[in-house]
Amino acid sequence: MNKSSWRSPSNIALVKYWGKYDPQLPANPSLSFTLKESYTETTLELLGESASEDFDFDIFLDSVKTDSFKPKIKQFLQRIEKDLDFLKGRRFSIETYNSFPHSSGIASSASGMSALALNLLSLSPEGKNLSQEAFFRKASEWSRLGSGSASRSVFGPLGLWGKTAGIAESSDEYAIPYQGKVDSVFTSFRDTILLVETGQKAVSSTAGHGLMNGHPFAAERFKQAHRNMADLQDILAQGDLAAFGELLESEALTLHAMMMSSRPYFILMKPGSLEIIEKIWQWRRETRKPMYFTLDAGANVHLLYPEAIEQEALEFVNSSLKGHLINGAYICDQVGNGPTPLT
Ligand code: PMV
Repeated sequence: MNKSSWRSPSNIALVKYWGKYDPQLPANPSLSFTLKESYTETTLELLGESASEDFDFDIFLDSVKTDSFKPKIKQFLQRIEKDLDFLKGRRFSIETYNSFPHSSGIASSASGMSALALNLLSLSPEGKNLSQEAFFRKASEWSRLGSGSASRSVFGPLGLWGKTAGIAESSDEYAIPYQGKVDSVFTSFRDTILLVETGQKAVSSTAGHGLMNGHPFAAERFKQAHRNMADLQDILAQGDLAAFGELLESEALTLHAMMMSSRPYFILMKPGSLEIIEKIWQWRRETRKPMYFTLDAGANVHLLYPEAIEQEALEFVNSSLKGHLINGAYICDQVGNGPTPLT
């Protein structure tokens, strides 16, 4: 077998990972919804022999050779080099495609790195001998070394990464599928991603994580994340939407508060992000419907709500929020079940 293809989704964190230490281990646990419609499809193909001592590959995005991706991929490959003997002396190609527009500002690292890790493991002698459970665990560990949040994309509908009290199998090394009770309202949750800003992020998440070292509020933040992980487990089991929304929004604003209070400080939200947040709160006061927001390390706003209010939510987006979005664009996503092999 010389070729492997996987589709792997993006994810949206409910409790955020922000802060890490070597080698790519999280300063606090995180829990995310795996998405369905925002994914990367990647094919890894082993080609002829190579005389190079180094990893010898080309990477194509939508069939276009994209050398700018190479350094990040190479860094990832070097991190798992001891497991990649089968790539030595071979040329190989990586073909990749994102379901969401490249310029949408949606981080493709979670879906992209997990899709690549799944392919590497599928082609490796090691991966071929693993049970299904061990395969995904290893794939999550490798994904983590590509991009921390990618570790969670390997599992759906919820991925948990980082040692968490009361969950014996949880680990800083890899994510696990969240096995606690989850009320059915959450497994069909919608995530409408509002595109406030497109293009390259002003501050990379790597730089942002780094600023949690020596951050004056870091220790309290990490404690809070542990408490929120415990609370979220009860909330998910009980289907308590109001408590879910409060925790979700508090996590999002805390993440951005950490950025604003680091040295150097920075702000990733845009005026449009704040206007949208105000309007969500107003809509919620008026309608009493359970629609909440979260944010990634960027200006885009993720609107999270139950399937049952999808129509009203989209009417609200179209009538009140579209004007804040780049070209009026948003992505309709929902909770999904994790990666699928394409070969
Ligand atoms: O995986 P990274 O290093 O791009 O970090 C992602 C960090 C957040 O998206 C802000 C939070 C998270 O847990 O996904």
